[in-house]
Amino acid sequence: MKMHFTRRSFLATLGATAGATLAGKSLLDVDKVFATTSPYVRPNIAGLTLSSQNIQSYIAGIQAMQALPLTDQRSWAYQAAIHGTTMPGMMPDWNTCSHGSFEQNFFWAWHRIYLYWFERIVRSLSGDSTWALPYWDWQTNPTLPSMFQNGGSPTLHATRNAAINNGTGGVGNTTPGVNAAYAQPIFEQSSVPGADQLIQIPHNQVHVMVGGLMGNTLTAAQDPIFFVHHANEDRLWDLWLAQGGLQSDPTSDTTWGSTSFGFFDENANAVSMTPCDVLRAALQLNYMYEGEPAQVNQYCFNPTLCFGSYNVLIDNCIQKPPFYLKEGYGYYGFPVSYDLGQQIYGYLQNPYNTIYLTHYGVTCPTQPGVVWDVYMGLPVGTKPNQDSPYYIGSYGMYGAGIADQPPDGNEPASFGFPVNTAILTALKKLKKGGTIPVTYFPTSLPAVSLHPKQKSTLTIQQAQLTLQTVTPAGKAAKKKSEDRVVAKVMAHH
Ligand code: C2O
Repeated sequence: MKMHFTRRSFLATLGATAGATLAGKSLLDVDKVFATTSPYVRPNIAGLTLSSQNIQSYIAGIQAMQALPLTDQRSWAYQAAIHGTTMPGMMPDWNTCSHGSFEQNFFWAWHRIYLYWFERIVRSLSGDSTWALPYWDWQTNPTLPSMFQNGGSPTLHATRNAAINNGTGGVGNTTPGVNAAYAQPIFEQSSVPGADQLIQIPHNQVHVMVGGLMGNTLTAAQDPIFFVHHANEDRLWDLWLAQGGLQSDPTSDTTWGSTSFGFFDENANAVSMTPCDVLRAALQLNYMYEGEPAQVNQYCFNPTLCFGSYNVLIDNCIQKPPFYLKEGYGYYGFPVSYDLGQQIYGYLQNPYNTIYLTHYGVTCPTQPGVVWDVYMGLPVGTKPNQDSPYYIGSYGMYGAGIADQPPDGNEPASFGFPVNTAILTALKKLKKGGTIPVTYFPTSLPAVSLHPKQKSTLTIQQAQLTLQTVTPAGKAAKKKSEDRVVAKVMAHH
């Protein structure tokens, strides 16, 4: 009987360095940059009037953008053309907005990136360093915000349906559309609409009901209400995730996550971002919405990303000297930095994610004759107890890895345990980072011996923490059966 994993995802961990580095760059560095600044708050426009500082700054920013020549990428016309344009002579990044099809699931992400750079340009050109884009909650307030109506600001005015501009009509009931998107836990699918597709239904309704420039993707972003409308769409992405169900961004879809979109910053420098760069609005982009619940932080990863092993290995899995289990209990630690701890918290908010403590290259010369109870995070000096949250499983050698039991014994064994509960419990005590111990206590039946004599030394070439995610489709059934496989492996003491 070989103790090999049956999970495909375990097989490639050693080769995951490139993915881990890639993820590490956007996960850790970007988050760290903003960790100490408090995010900009995008306000609900219902609480603002024409004379509010926020609206005056928006007007000043628009006017400054309108004063720039078309060739300046920060100009009002250039920025609108990035979304869509009928102008001849394509310039970089024009006509790049993403809507419409089931296969293209960049709606939320593309518009989030677009708004982010647009907001920075307005903030810079308006001279108001505190400015944040307001949002129009058209579900609650279906009529156009007053400062955009007739009699409001001429700068905020645009060609629209007459009833919208004079405030006698609204965009109608968008709640069924929003609710349908909320009820869909899956972000993207190709045969039926995912949430990224469903959220476009109320969004389109607003475009069509506002009418005029807004009714056509090629002209929509010339209307200043466009960005206020889209801030709300963007807020709905956060709210969709915050429902506390199975909602999750497609973080393991590497094509989705790594597709790069080009924009321009407030200095007219070309910049680009991927969906993976914009999953955590407050942490990566430094903004949140007035009144929104705590943002759910999603993280992109290589599905087999390996982020730790027993010898100070955070983002790769280079083999280190082996760990030996001799007579008595054995112990090593996983160093977990503050950042890594935050990252793990993030992963474990997603019910599709499981972290495993895995062991590779496990060998011994002859049957050791004991079973090890394994604990992760058990505070030093605490009595081991299988009812504690730190107990992760028990392991005994059988077949694979026992040198004097060929042919199975010729091949090293590997084994692993799910550790979500243990690691979360341990992290709660490690607020600033530190080391999470893994402890092995040899046991055997009390009737046989209270202090079992271990007959041979066990060598573990490598131990690591590995993240596994299962895809949402067919998830429940699949995850159950995989859990059973692990339980079976563990049952072979
Ligand atoms: Cu890209 Cu509301 O449109």
